[in-house]
Amino acid sequence: MNRSEIPFEKFSSQVFKSWGSEWFLLTAGRFKPGKFNTMTVAWGSFGIMWQKPFAMVVVRPGRHTHAFIEKFDTFTLCAFPPEYRKALNYCGTKSGRDVDKVKETGLTPIASEKVEAPGFKEAELIIECQKIYRDVFNPKNFIDASIEGNYPDKDYHSVYFGEILSINGVDKYIHEEKEEN
Ligand SMILES: Cc1cc2nc3c(=O)[nH]c(=O)nc-3n(C[C@H](O)[C@H](O)[C@H](O)COP(=O)(O)O)c2cc1C
Repeated sequence: MNRSEIPFEKFSSQVFKSWGSEWFLLTAGRFKPGKFNTMTVAWGSFGIMWQKPFAMVVVRPGRHTHAFIEKFDTFTLCAFPPEYRKALNYCGTKSGRDVDKVKETGLTPIASEKVEAPGFKEAELIIECQKIYRDVFNPKNFIDASIEGNYPDKDYHSVYFGEILSINGVDKYIHEEKEEN
Protein backbone atom coordinates (compact mmCIF):
# COMPACT_ATOMS: atom_id res chain seq x y z
CA MET A 1 0.00 0.00 0.00
CA ASN A 2 1.35 3.38 -1.04
CA ARG A 3 1.21 5.25 2.28
CA SER A 4 3.11 8.36 3.28
CA GLU A 5 3.49 10.26 6.57
CA ILE A 6 0.72 12.86 6.98
CA PRO A 7 1.12 15.75 9.48
CA PHE A 8 -2.02 15.77 11.65
CA GLU A 9 -2.96 19.29 10.52
CA LYS A 10 -3.18 17.96 6.96
CA PHE A 11 -5.10 14.79 7.83
CA SER A 12 -8.47 14.68 6.12
CA SER A 13 -11.10 12.02 6.71
CA GLN A 14 -14.86 11.67 6.36
CA VAL A 15 -14.98 10.94 10.08
CA PHE A 16 -18.59 9.85 10.41
CA LYS A 17 -18.29 7.49 7.45
CA SER A 18 -14.86 6.24 8.56
CA TRP A 19 -16.00 5.36 12.07
CA GLY A 20 -19.64 4.50 11.54
CA SER A 21 -19.64 2.47 8.36
CA GLU A 22 -16.10 1.76 7.17
CA TRP A 23 -14.64 0.84 10.58
CA PHE A 24 -11.08 0.47 11.88
CA LEU A 25 -8.98 -2.31 13.29
CA LEU A 26 -7.86 -1.37 16.78
CA THR A 27 -4.62 -3.18 17.65
CA ALA A 28 -3.04 -3.09 21.10
CA GLY A 29 0.07 -4.77 22.45
CA ARG A 30 3.62 -5.17 21.16
CA PHE A 31 4.73 -6.26 17.70
CA LYS A 32 8.18 -7.63 18.61
CA PRO A 33 7.23 -10.43 20.99
CA GLY A 34 4.05 -11.04 18.98
CA LYS A 35 1.95 -10.07 21.97
CA PHE A 36 -0.90 -8.12 20.47
CA ASN A 37 -4.56 -8.47 19.59
CA THR A 38 -6.79 -6.75 17.09
CA MET A 39 -10.53 -6.12 16.91
CA THR A 40 -12.92 -4.09 14.77
CA VAL A 41 -14.19 -0.78 16.13
CA ALA A 42 -16.90 1.55 14.86
CA TRP A 43 -17.26 3.86 17.86
CA GLY A 44 -14.65 6.52 18.57
CA SER A 45 -13.39 9.93 17.55
CA PHE A 46 -10.47 12.11 16.52
CA GLY A 47 -9.86 15.60 17.92
CA ILE A 48 -7.73 17.85 20.06
CA MET A 49 -7.47 17.57 23.88
CA TRP A 50 -4.88 19.02 26.20
CA GLN A 51 -3.27 20.63 23.11
CA LYS A 52 -2.66 17.18 21.65
CA PRO A 53 -4.20 15.45 18.62
CA PHE A 54 -5.98 12.33 19.88
CA ALA A 55 -7.90 9.25 18.84
CA MET A 56 -10.49 8.04 21.33
CA VAL A 57 -11.62 4.41 21.39
CA VAL A 58 -14.01 2.47 23.61
CA VAL A 59 -13.54 -1.19 24.50
CA ARG A 60 -15.91 -3.39 26.48
CA PRO A 61 -14.23 -5.26 29.35
CA GLY A 62 -15.08 -8.69 27.90
CA ARG A 63 -13.02 -8.17 24.74
CA HIS A 64 -9.70 -10.03 24.55
CA THR A 65 -8.27 -6.72 23.27
CA HIS A 66 -9.25 -5.10 26.58
CA ALA A 67 -6.47 -6.88 28.47
CA PHE A 68 -3.93 -5.69 25.87
CA ILE A 69 -5.01 -2.06 25.76
CA GLU A 70 -5.07 -2.01 29.57
CA LYS A 71 -1.59 -3.49 29.89
CA PHE A 72 0.31 -1.87 27.02
CA ASP A 73 1.00 1.83 26.39
CA THR A 74 0.21 2.11 22.71
CA PHE A 75 -2.37 1.18 20.10
CA THR A 76 -2.97 1.67 16.39
CA LEU A 77 -6.06 2.29 14.29
CA CYS A 78 -5.98 0.96 10.74
CA ALA A 79 -8.43 1.58 7.90
CA PHE A 80 -8.62 -0.72 4.89
CA PRO A 81 -9.83 -0.68 1.29
CA PRO A 82 -13.30 -2.23 0.70
CA GLU A 83 -11.93 -5.64 -0.30
CA TYR A 84 -10.93 -6.21 3.35
CA ARG A 85 -14.50 -5.88 4.60
CA LYS A 86 -14.67 -9.64 5.20
CA ALA A 87 -11.51 -9.49 7.33
CA LEU A 88 -12.96 -6.61 9.38
CA ASN A 89 -16.18 -8.53 9.88
CA TYR A 90 -14.15 -11.52 11.05
CA CYS A 91 -12.11 -9.47 13.53
CA GLY A 92 -15.34 -7.95 14.85
CA THR A 93 -17.13 -11.22 15.44
CA LYS A 94 -14.40 -13.65 16.56
CA SER A 95 -12.25 -13.38 19.65
CA GLY A 96 -8.48 -13.63 19.73
CA ARG A 97 -9.06 -15.94 22.69
CA ASP A 98 -10.44 -18.58 20.32
CA VAL A 99 -8.85 -17.94 16.93
CA ASP A 100 -5.66 -16.61 15.34
CA LYS A 101 -7.06 -13.55 13.55
CA VAL A 102 -3.83 -12.86 11.66
CA LYS A 103 -3.74 -16.39 10.28
CA GLU A 104 -7.44 -16.55 9.48
CA THR A 105 -7.65 -13.15 7.72
CA GLY A 106 -4.27 -13.30 6.00
CA LEU A 107 -3.52 -9.74 7.17
CA THR A 108 0.17 -8.92 7.66
CA PRO A 109 1.20 -7.19 10.91
CA ILE A 110 4.05 -4.69 10.45
CA ALA A 111 6.19 -2.67 12.85
CA SER A 112 4.92 0.86 13.45
CA GLU A 113 7.05 3.99 13.03
CA LYS A 114 6.78 5.31 16.60
CA VAL A 115 4.87 2.88 18.79
CA GLU A 116 5.19 -0.75 19.83
CA ALA A 117 1.71 -1.77 18.70
CA PRO A 118 1.77 -3.00 15.09
CA GLY A 119 -0.14 -1.80 12.06
CA PHE A 120 -1.05 -3.85 9.00
CA LYS A 121 0.65 -3.86 5.61
CA GLU A 122 -2.70 -3.96 3.78
CA ALA A 123 -4.06 -0.82 5.55
CA GLU A 124 -4.59 2.41 3.62
CA LEU A 125 -4.37 4.39 6.87
CA ILE A 126 -2.38 3.68 10.04
CA ILE A 127 -2.75 5.96 13.05
CA GLU A 128 -0.26 5.36 15.87
CA CYS A 129 -1.32 6.35 19.38
CA GLN A 130 0.19 6.57 22.86
CA LYS A 131 -2.35 6.16 25.68
CA ILE A 132 -2.74 9.36 27.70
CA TYR A 133 -6.05 8.86 29.52
CA ARG A 134 -8.37 6.02 30.47
CA ASP A 135 -11.69 5.88 32.22
CA VAL A 136 -14.77 3.68 32.46
CA PHE A 137 -18.21 4.98 31.53
CA ASN A 138 -20.26 5.60 34.65
CA PRO A 139 -23.98 4.95 34.07
CA LYS A 140 -24.82 7.59 36.69
CA ASN A 141 -23.51 10.13 34.18
CA PHE A 142 -25.73 9.04 31.27
CA ILE A 143 -27.76 12.22 30.76
CA ASP A 144 -29.60 10.58 27.87
CA ALA A 145 -31.21 7.58 29.59
CA SER A 146 -31.42 5.68 26.29
CA ILE A 147 -27.62 5.15 26.39
CA GLU A 148 -28.15 2.48 29.07
CA GLY A 149 -29.89 0.40 26.38
CA ASN A 150 -26.46 -0.32 24.90
CA TYR A 151 -25.49 -2.18 28.07
CA PRO A 152 -27.96 -5.00 28.89
CA ASP A 153 -25.03 -6.81 30.55
CA LYS A 154 -23.76 -3.68 32.38
CA ASP A 155 -20.43 -4.12 30.60
CA TYR A 156 -19.69 -0.44 30.35
CA HIS A 157 -16.93 0.48 27.92
CA SER A 158 -13.48 1.51 29.04
CA VAL A 159 -12.54 4.67 27.19
CA TYR A 160 -9.00 5.44 26.04
CA PHE A 161 -7.58 8.65 24.66
CA GLY A 162 -4.38 8.09 22.68
CA GLU A 163 -2.15 10.93 21.61
CA ILE A 164 -1.64 10.60 17.86
CA LEU A 165 2.11 10.25 17.28
CA SER A 166 2.04 9.31 13.61
CA ILE A 167 -0.41 9.15 10.71
CA ASN A 168 0.50 7.19 7.59
CA GLY A 169 -2.00 7.10 4.78
CA VAL A 170 -2.68 7.01 1.08
CA ASP A 171 -3.28 10.30 -0.76
CA LYS A 172 -7.02 10.45 -0.13
CA TYR A 173 -6.27 11.17 3.55
CA ILE A 174 -4.24 14.30 2.71
CA HIS A 175 -6.19 17.56 2.77
CA GLU A 176 -5.78 19.45 -0.51
CA GLU A 177 -5.80 23.24 -0.08
CA LYS A 178 -8.15 24.74 -2.70
CA GLU A 179 -6.67 27.77 -4.47
CA GLU A 180 -8.57 31.00 -3.76
CA ASN A 181 -9.61 33.04 -6.80
C1 LIG B 1 -18.57 -3.16 12.99
C2 LIG B 1 -18.17 -3.51 14.38
C3 LIG B 1 -17.81 -2.50 15.26
C4 LIG B 1 -17.42 -2.79 16.58
N1 LIG B 1 -17.06 -1.76 17.41
C5 LIG B 1 -16.69 -2.04 18.68
C6 LIG B 1 -16.26 -0.98 19.55
O1 LIG B 1 -16.15 0.20 19.18
N2 LIG B 1 -15.94 -1.32 20.84
C7 LIG B 1 -16.03 -2.62 21.30
O2 LIG B 1 -15.74 -2.88 22.47
N3 LIG B 1 -16.40 -3.64 20.47
C8 LIG B 1 -16.70 -3.37 19.18
N4 LIG B 1 -17.05 -4.39 18.33
C9 LIG B 1 -17.02 -5.79 18.81
C10 LIG B 1 -15.63 -6.42 18.76
O3 LIG B 1 -14.93 -6.10 17.58
C11 LIG B 1 -15.80 -7.94 18.86
O4 LIG B 1 -16.44 -8.27 20.07
C12 LIG B 1 -14.50 -8.70 18.70
O5 LIG B 1 -14.81 -10.05 18.42
C13 LIG B 1 -13.60 -8.62 19.93
O6 LIG B 1 -12.45 -9.37 19.68
P1 LIG B 1 -11.42 -9.78 20.82
O7 LIG B 1 -12.17 -10.61 21.85
O8 LIG B 1 -10.36 -10.57 20.10
O9 LIG B 1 -10.89 -8.51 21.41
C14 LIG B 1 -17.42 -4.12 17.02
C15 LIG B 1 -17.78 -5.16 16.14
C16 LIG B 1 -18.12 -4.85 14.82
C17 LIG B 1 -18.48 -5.97 13.87
